[in-house]
Amino acid sequence: MNPERTVVFDPAEHPPSERQFMLSQLVVPRPIAMVSTRSPDGVNNVAPMSYYLPITGDPMLVGVTMGLRESAELKDTYTNATASGDFVINVTTEAFRDQIETVAMEAPSTVDEFDLAGWTPVPATRVSSPAIGEALARLECEVRQVVDLGTPGLPFGEVHLVIAEVVWVAYDAAVCDEQGRIDPLRLGPIGRLGLRTFLRTVDDGAYFLPRIPWSEFVENQKET
Ligand SMILES: Cc1cc2nc3c(=O)[nH]c(=O)nc-3n(C[C@H](O)[C@H](O)[C@H](O)COP(=O)(O)O)c2cc1C
Repeated sequence: MNPERTVVFDPAEHPPSERQFMLSQLVVPRPIAMVSTRSPDGVNNVAPMSYYLPITGDPMLVGVTMGLRESAELKDTYTNATASGDFVINVTTEAFRDQIETVAMEAPSTVDEFDLAGWTPVPATRVSSPAIGEALARLECEVRQVVDLGTPGLPFGEVHLVIAEVVWVAYDAAVCDEQGRIDPLRLGPIGRLGLRTFLRTVDDGAYFLPRIPWSEFVENQKET
C-alpha cells in the first residue's frame, strides 16, 4: 500500500451501515448460501446470504448472519428458521446465477420465492425445510444457537448470528472428479464481490498450488 495514497477507516467514527459496507467490499469473494426455509403457514422461502462461514468440522457447524429487512422487520429466513429449527443451504452455482437478486427481493412473507425464481422445491432428507431441486449440492442444517448482535433500532444495527449443525449433505455426482472428490471447477460456485458484482468460477480464473511440507522446504533450501 502506498503510504501517500492510504485511505483509513476508523469503525468508531462510522454508523453501522458504513461499517457493513466496508466489510462487504473487503471481505471478498464470499460464498453465497442460498437458504431455503418454509414458514409456519407452509410458504416456501429462499434468500441468498453471504455473511456465511464454515465454523468447524466436528461438530459440523456453519454460521449465517441474518439482519433486518429495509422495513426494519425480521427477515423471513430468520423467522422461518428459528420457528422450524432448520434450513437448507443450497450451494450457489451457475444454475442460480441469474436469479440471485430476484430471490433477494424483500417480498411479502406470503409470496413463494421458489415460484419467483422458477425453482423446484424438493423435500430435504433430514430437515423440514424444502431444498432447491436445481441445486448441485446442499447442506441440511439444524439450528443450534442464535447469537443476538448489533444495536437494535439502528439501520443495519440488529443482526442474529445463526449457528447451525449440518446434519445431511447431498450433491450431484456430476460435480465429482474421477476419484469421486468434489471438483471445484465442476461445482462452479458463484461468489459475492463488492457492490453488485458477482464472481463465476471459470477454468482460466482458477489456479492450483501444491501443499508444501516444511521438511521438503528445508530439504530444497539445502540443495540450492
Ligand atoms: C448476494 C447476496 C447476499 C446477501 N447476504 C445476506 C446476509 O448474509 N444476511 C442478510 O441478512 N441478508 C443478506 N442479503 C439480503 C437478503 O437476501 C434479502 O434481505 C432477502 O430478501 C431476505 O429475504 P427474506 O425476508 O425472505 O429472508 C444478501 C443479498 C444478496 C443479493
